[in-house]
Amino acid sequence: MKVSLTRYLVEQQRAKGNIPPQLRLLIEVVARSCKSISRAVNQGALGGVLGSAGSENVQGEVQKKLDIIANEELIQANEWGGHLAAMASEEMDDIHVVPNRYPQGEYLLLFDPLDGSSNIDVNVSIGTIFSVLKKTTPASDVTTQDFLQAGRQQVAAGYCVYGPQTTLVLTVGDGVCMFTLDKEEGAFFLTQENVQIPTETQEFAINMSNMRHWDAPVKRYVNECLAGTEGVRGKNFNMRWIASMVADVHRILMRGGIFMYPWDKREPNKPGKLRLMYEANPMSWLVEQAGGASSNGQQAILDIQPKGLHERVSVILGSKSEVDRVTQYHLNTHHS
Ligand code: AHG
Ligand code: MN
Ligand code: MN
Repeated sequence: MKVSLTRYLVEQQRAKGNIPPQLRLLIEVVARSCKSISRAVNQGALGGVLGSAGSENVQGEVQKKLDIIANEELIQANEWGGHLAAMASEEMDDIHVVPNRYPQGEYLLLFDPLDGSSNIDVNVSIGTIFSVLKKTTPASDVTTQDFLQAGRQQVAAGYCVYGPQTTLVLTVGDGVCMFTLDKEEGAFFLTQENVQIPTETQEFAINMSNMRHWDAPVKRYVNECLAGTEGVRGKNFNMRWIASMVADVHRILMRGGIFMYPWDKREPNKPGKLRLMYEANPMSWLVEQAGGASSNGQQAILDIQPKGLHERVSVILGSKSEVDRVTQYHLNTHHS
């Protein structure tokens, strides 16, 4: 029997009381948006969705047409339902407060509408990442300050990967489950529950072209992987780098591995490339919920107190023993 996303969410709430109706509505609306983004992605050149939009986002990155299409889709789909107070996105400088004409709910939604933008035009997997927080000051007007909560405070998080299959991956803090889109029926169905990342791995993911810019602990870890059976690790490692965090993290959830986008010397004043609130936090929670670990080299990413909506962070996540090793290399360096 196929279990639809709706049925899964209803039955979870009945059994565990962890997905109240407004949160269920939120997750279903996000899933519906992902369905529609998936359709746009699949149309590609036929839908006129490829290429650059000719504008820049707050991080100074050139926006692709699909970055904007996906952002618009998520905003429009989510603002009228009464479940949200406000939204924040990679593609918007400031928060988007739910307009007065609609009722305001208590949830806050953050997203990277289109992750892996450099892969859109070359037909490689891309995705959408989302994180849900709860407004802690129900009486007052919503501000950016309401969003600045550590990743541990998330009440739901997930991503949708647009690849050979369109797969929605979700956690509400009770493990990780996956839903595959049946494109003919137009609905997501449960395809995997209780996802567990293997603790041991022989696969690493990092953009090797930045090696000369890395810090010593990251160089040490990768060099030890490269040394294979002749080095201290005593085993060979394989490497993958898709350049869509969604697709790299999806592989790690499915078969283990470690993903790193560490701080590097190209932009020494930035903690890293990836964004804490709508990339690193949701992915870190999924990875921890699947038995893995996530760190910035000093502490668990989920424990970081954010200072800004678009704050960046160094990311090391995946199989626990490997992440612990890299973190240990960092701690050793800083204490000596
Ligand atoms: P986005 O497309 O949302 O800006 O994110 C791209 C990110 C991430 O998905 C990926 O891991 C990384 O950028 C790839 O960066 P490089 O091109 O530097 O390898
Ligand atoms: Mn991204
Ligand atoms: Mn993006």
